[in-house]
Amino acid sequence: MKACLGLSVLAATIATAFAAKGNLPPVTVKGNAFFAGDERFYVRGVAYQPGGAADAADPLLDLKALARDVENFKSLGINTVRIYTIDNSQNHDEGMKMLDDAGIYLALDANTPDYSLNRENASTLHRSYNEVYLQSVFATIDAFADYNNLLLFFSGNEVINQKNNTNAAPYIKAVTRDMKQYIANRQSRIIPVGYSAADVAENIEAQALYFNCGTDDERSDFFAFNDYSWCDPSSFTKSGWDKKVETYSSYSKPIFLSEFGCITNQRNWGEIAALYSEDMTGVYSGGLVYEYTVEENGFGIVKVNADGNIVPNEDFKRLAKAYKATANPTGDGGYKKDGKASECPSESDEWEVKGTTLPAIPERATEFMKEGAGAGPGLAGGSHTAGEPSDGDAEPGSGSPTRSPPGSTDSPQGAAAGLDVPVRFVGIIAASALFSAVLF
Ligand SMILES: *[C@@H]1O[C@H](CO)[C@@H](O)[C@H](O)[C@H]1NC(C)=O
Ligand SMILES: *[C@@H]1O[C@H](CO)[C@@H](O)[C@H](O)[C@H]1NC(C)=O
Repeated sequence: MKACLGLSVLAATIATAFAAKGNLPPVTVKGNAFFAGDERFYVRGVAYQPGGAADAADPLLDLKALARDVENFKSLGINTVRIYTIDNSQNHDEGMKMLDDAGIYLALDANTPDYSLNRENASTLHRSYNEVYLQSVFATIDAFADYNNLLLFFSGNEVINQKNNTNAAPYIKAVTRDMKQYIANRQSRIIPVGYSAADVAENIEAQALYFNCGTDDERSDFFAFNDYSWCDPSSFTKSGWDKKVETYSSYSKPIFLSEFGCITNQRNWGEIAALYSEDMTGVYSGGLVYEYTVEENGFGIVKVNADGNIVPNEDFKRLAKAYKATANPTGDGGYKKDGKASECPSESDEWEVKGTTLPAIPERATEFMKEGAGAGPGLAGGSHTAGEPSDGDAEPGSGSPTRSPPGSTDSPQGAAAGLDVPVRFVGIIAASALFSAVLF
């Protein structure tokens, strides 16, 4: 009897220690697809940043507006929202629970306007990759990792946005590597991390290859891009989406559209039928409509009035209809179970990246891997010229997890499988065992 009590106390303590929050099954990457449990998972979502990106406010903290919007998410029939900016100094339990209760996952950008890479020129790029920036990114990971309905993190959004700033690529890739290492070292599950690219015709394919080449620690878990090439009247072939399936047909990681929805003419949302058909699902895992609220740029599907009431527009109604008419493919959608790393693109006029060497993680940020990032700075301050930048090149493989599985002498790489008990829980479990022993 006492032994039973001791064991149940131990079990309860372990359950609390893992503290997974929410009812939705966490999403994982298998081959070039996402899975929620054994079910193929397709992103069916909208971008959600009421007020726009420039003066960004955290939409998960405005619970009244969120409750109003969640009802609309349900009537649209989506399963994901993308948020570009949150305040990592705040608690998000309530907002994340409202999403979880509605069956909605969050795709979250780990940067904010003032905690980000500065792509202005080579020296601002180098300067902005510093430990103050990474501390904010890692604090965002800490703030959201325990929510089961946290779908993935974006390590950057449209940092490369022209022909001539591909020199940002090694920094984006280094941040992706650091985020993956931080998650593997410090969190209780592996959360997908990848980049959201601008669809720059001259270099988009090179970007896809680059972020999926090299050693495993440096490869993204997925590739996403913002695509406005389907402008009605259009079709799978007229938009060129058929070519974009061909281009990435041997890509070994999930791909999805992190924004879509050209507004040149009336939007009829033929994209939905195409995106969730087997024409595309062997390569693509859905996408995110840009965007929920009407802002100055005119992409929104819901108008927010001064009194806080909202009015869905005709785009909203047509989009809801398109989702309703379009089920996901049955079965696995033709995904590829396994594939290899891509070959790194070579330097050219359109790809100004020498070799494959990445900047080393800034020395002071290595502490976070052992000690945790601590409290997030929120939206105050900024990192562009703060802290100390990276001071050298990284060895390939240096971003592998450094956490050893507890009670084993295996190589640290064992932790990459995510099967071990995180180090930070071992103490709790040990303490609990002690406590149980006292009960005996
Ligand atoms: C890069 O941009 C910074 C910030 O605007 C500026 O101070 C610096 O002179 C620029 N460097 C070069 C080499 O253009
Ligand atoms: C890239 O080109 C744009 C003009 O298209 C220019 O304003 C910008 O300064 C250039 N950036 C770099 C890093 O050369």
